[in-house]
Amino acid sequence: MRNVTLENITGAVVGALSQDVPSRQREIMTSLIKHMHDFCRDVNLQSDEFLQACDYMARAGAICDDQRQEFILLADILGIEVLVDMLSNETTGDESESTVLGPFYRENPPVLPAGASIVQMDFDGQETVLIEGIIRDASGAPISGVMMDVWEDAPNGLYEQQDPEQPDFNLRGRFETDESGRYSFRAIRPVPYPIPEDGTAGELLSFMGHHPWRPGHIHFMLFKSGYRTLVSQIFDGKSEYLDNDSVFAVKESLIGEFKKAPSNVDADLVLEFDFVLKSQDS
Ligand code: BEZ
Ligand code: FE
Repeated sequence: MRNVTLENITGAVVGALSQDVPSRQREIMTSLIKHMHDFCRDVNLQSDEFLQACDYMARAGAICDDQRQEFILLADILGIEVLVDMLSNETTGDESESTVLGPFYRENPPVLPAGASIVQMDFDGQETVLIEGIIRDASGAPISGVMMDVWEDAPNGLYEQQDPEQPDFNLRGRFETDESGRYSFRAIRPVPYPIPEDGTAGELLSFMGHHPWRPGHIHFMLFKSGYRTLVSQIFDGKSEYLDNDSVFAVKESLIGEFKKAPSNVDADLVLEFDFVLKSQDS
């Protein structure tokens, strides 16, 4: 290409993709180039704005380390993590819906017996909750031996790895369903919290005029060989921000009801929530 013009530049870049590029890579790059060129044309992007964007991306990259992945946060604020999750885990109607993993999952949480508490440190004003339910397959049969990782924020709105005052793996645990597919553990009512907004994620939120808050929720990851791993959250039906989650992750089917516990239960509240897992080959 000797004479690049506004009209021919997009075709020239797409045309430069080598014939040897694998087909999925070709599909992704062709669409990416076309959409990015169209975006620049659409907003008539100017050189100073382009340089600002490059500087912004460099600063976002500089924040990333093995504890913090700023690009996932940026994708969350733009609704991209939840969109990709829905494209990757299309539901056929019967199984539980997934939602975003978020940046606070830790592998290998403490393995705890059924009914145990994930609370290692008490906070003033916390409300304890017994969370239990049954995990079934699409035919309604209970599934035993499902491993369930759970994690939540503390009443100060922080996950344990964000807060040096909390013990390691506080408010995290791994449970297993029994022969009737039942799981059970004790936790605390999750509170709304702001996603990390001290870096470029905060700049993006301000640029969009959006707030950083998420409604109270508990995270789950359910896995057993032969079934699709389910990454999801249960939202507190009484929480603020259900209608304007900063990362757009709320789904009606994932809203649970925290009820006052009967007097024979050693907790303030109970939450009953069942899940349905899809088999690997469905
Ligand atoms: C979370 O729920 O832990 C989360 C999800 C997306 C961005 C930040 C936090
Ligand atoms: Fe969370």
